[in-house]
Amino acid sequence: MLAPTQNDPNPWMAKESHQASKTIDRAQRDREEPTKSVKWYQPTVKSLSETTVELFENYAGITGEEAIKSHIYRIRDMAWKVLPYPCIGLFRFLDFSIHLSPDYTSVVKRVQQGATLLDLGCCFGQDLRKLAYDAGPGTSTRNLIGTDLEPTFLQLGYELFGDRDRLEATFVPGDVFAEDFLADYRGKVDIVYLGSFLHLFSESRQQTVVKQLRQLLRPCAGSMVFGRNLGAGKGGPFHMESIGWGLYRHDPETIADLFQSSCDEEEGPNSSAGGNKSKVRWQVTSSLSRYGSASWDNDRRGWQGDETKQMMFTATRL
Ligand SMILES: C[S@@+](CC[C@H](N)C(=O)[O-])C[C@H]1O[C@@H](n2cnc3c(N)ncnc32)[C@H](O)[C@@H]1O
Repeated sequence: MLAPTQNDPNPWMAKESHQASKTIDRAQRDREEPTKSVKWYQPTVKSLSETTVELFENYAGITGEEAIKSHIYRIRDMAWKVLPYPCIGLFRFLDFSIHLSPDYTSVVKRVQQGATLLDLGCCFGQDLRKLAYDAGPGTSTRNLIGTDLEPTFLQLGYELFGDRDRLEATFVPGDVFAEDFLADYRGKVDIVYLGSFLHLFSESRQQTVVKQLRQLLRPCAGSMVFGRNLGAGKGGPFHMESIGWGLYRHDPETIADLFQSSCDEEEGPNSSAGGNKSKVRWQVTSSLSRYGSASWDNDRRGWQGDETKQMMFTATRL
């Protein structure tokens, strides 16, 4: 896949089919060094949160804030060379946003009991590491799946957390808009996490994402999608001045509509007899709060003021 240019109107869209990179080295060698003179490249992290320090010390085995920082800078710059995205440049991957969800405790429990969880747009797979750490060493990580458009991010995740030989989660490169997206997992996933993902796409593309997720989720009550994205008091398209492509911020009504409207009729048990179709119904809860991050500089966030909020949402199939 081609790295997007920084003037690309929508760098999140796959521009051509891509194959998994064999090695990080090859991916790096084939790409030109992108400039760091953009607003969404922050040279150093403002501070490390307690969560970050704890995970790097206890899970990745790196001791001391300075050692953790220089390790992070090294991997972050490798990722920047691969794709110069704001979540990389602004260290947004250090938020470990999954644990901010009000449903996180119940998600950890379900994973401990064997639920299958997919992190879509997982970047380095940082949220899966956080989940594996919180679920504890007694929990198998075999039921965790991470997928991302950019295969090199998945490989860099192993470098960042030094766990190639012990994490049993599966990482699969994939484009959520591909027809055969994660075809092997259809109907087998209990929970999907979407961290800073939905807002990257227009409303109609988001409907396609939800349709794909509905195919992946087990067709039963309790299957759920939860996540974090940009929100606002009034949802709608949003342009980030400093970055330059169109995003979509949700409000509580628009996020609920997204799930309800994307889930048209589904075949029921008697459908082959030409009949019964049932509507898939969701319970959608969400909250808006100030969008802050321990790691980013406020003047580099990409929006002015506090009108842009952080939305946490959970959609549970009824
Ligand atoms: C803003 S980052 C968020 C990363 C991470 N989930 C987090 O919360 O920090 C969005 C991620 O989605 C991935 N992505 C973008 N378009 C995608 C697509 N069509 N299919 C799968 N992943 C995609 C990007 O490569 C990137 O890693």
